[in-house]
Amino acid sequence: MSGHGTPIPMTSHPCGPLTGQAHVPGDKSISHRSLILGAMAVGETRISGLLEGEDVLDTARAMRAFGAEVTDHGGGEWSVHGVGVGGFAEPRNVIDCGNSGTGVRLIMGAMATTGITATFTGDASLNKRPMARVTDPIALFGAQAVGRSGGRLPMTIVGAADPVPVRYEVPMPSAQVKSAVLLAGLNAPGQTVVIEKEATRDHTERMLRGFGARITTENSDAGRVITLTGQPELKPQTIAVPRDPSSAAFPVCAAIITPGSDVLVPNIGLNPTRAGLFTTLREMGADLTYENEREEGGEPVADLRARFSPDLKGIEVDPARAASMIDEYPVLSVVAAFAQGDTVMKGVGELRVKESDRIDAMATGLRLNGVAVDEGEDWWIVHGLGHGNVPGGATCESHLDHRIAMSFMVMGMAAQNPVSVDDGGPIATSFPIFEPLMAGLGANVARADR
Ligand code: S3P
Repeated sequence: MSGHGTPIPMTSHPCGPLTGQAHVPGDKSISHRSLILGAMAVGETRISGLLEGEDVLDTARAMRAFGAEVTDHGGGEWSVHGVGVGGFAEPRNVIDCGNSGTGVRLIMGAMATTGITATFTGDASLNKRPMARVTDPIALFGAQAVGRSGGRLPMTIVGAADPVPVRYEVPMPSAQVKSAVLLAGLNAPGQTVVIEKEATRDHTERMLRGFGARITTENSDAGRVITLTGQPELKPQTIAVPRDPSSAAFPVCAAIITPGSDVLVPNIGLNPTRAGLFTTLREMGADLTYENEREEGGEPVADLRARFSPDLKGIEVDPARAASMIDEYPVLSVVAAFAQGDTVMKGVGELRVKESDRIDAMATGLRLNGVAVDEGEDWWIVHGLGHGNVPGGATCESHLDHRIAMSFMVMGMAAQNPVSVDDGGPIATSFPIFEPLMAGLGANVARADR
């Protein structure tokens, strides 16, 4: 339930080399899915390495409200006693998903084909975000939604007591929408088919398979065609959550732009639907290597080694890669400021409907810190100044967006002057150990209240 607290102003001061190991927390996407699918299985799912950030804790509370027994055993070990597909109980109170679009959209999908009613809300950021992208497809199953104008939260969903299966082409590249439809399809009879033109993160499909659902993915001219057979009995699993590549992005990018740095970020999931940033950084000339490459739990994993890279070049980022790095554009735009020449990012209209309008939030903050940016509805260009030439010195608004706050903190590490944010509180949604972790590498990030 982030965003309700007092703002926490934070400043990142230029620092010396970043060195050492950065053990980043568990993957946010996989953590949400572990709790939700655990709640829909029959029996006890064990989870290790769960991300204990605000977003995921809100999902854990929500699963309890729907009747699952969710227990925190300490040290990232959790268990979920599920109620089975279609077994959700009606929550007695409003479900507050805090800052989390993934949480609210996946849970709406999961309850949409059960004959219960639930009301959802969130913080000021989440309550601005579009929900029609989920309520449109769940209406096809027979669910009804009543929310605020523009399809915004707070919103009540009346689940379909007699759901029908659907065939749905997802109109925008969104793993959340794809996942909401698949989770709704779990309690519909027959086959639910989801088609996505561009491949988005496939954790839901992989995990559904692991829980014993019948699910296939075929590539066709129309894109990826995912077929799920409804009403399976999901079998509880033991899940080791890999570490989050989207969180790894921050120490990796900080090391690349901070002189003398050499940082190892161990055990990072490199699922191809998530690893686009690292390919992009290498194309820009970053000294980023994969060490100890291996497979764990069906996912490619490696230790990332990032070193200071003085000769970064601006590039045109392949728009076909956008979905695989959609959460990483804010921090990429910071790296782009330290590169020579322009970094062109196209096909990224989805950035405007994240926790904040991320193009606007980053462009405004970059400009305040002396970096020129051009932008359009679904593109932006950062005019890089080259290593050592980024002025910094400004205070930026984080707009209740964890990735905006962390991106500007990374910028301050290598700019000529400190960079501040008005509120670093949202960082706790996805990366609650960001400050001690970065301090351990040698960064100087301070809260104004200390
Ligand atoms: C997520 C999907 C992405 C991403 C978000 C996590 C997920 O959102 O931005 O942080 O876990 O499915 P969209 O589905 O809106 O692209």
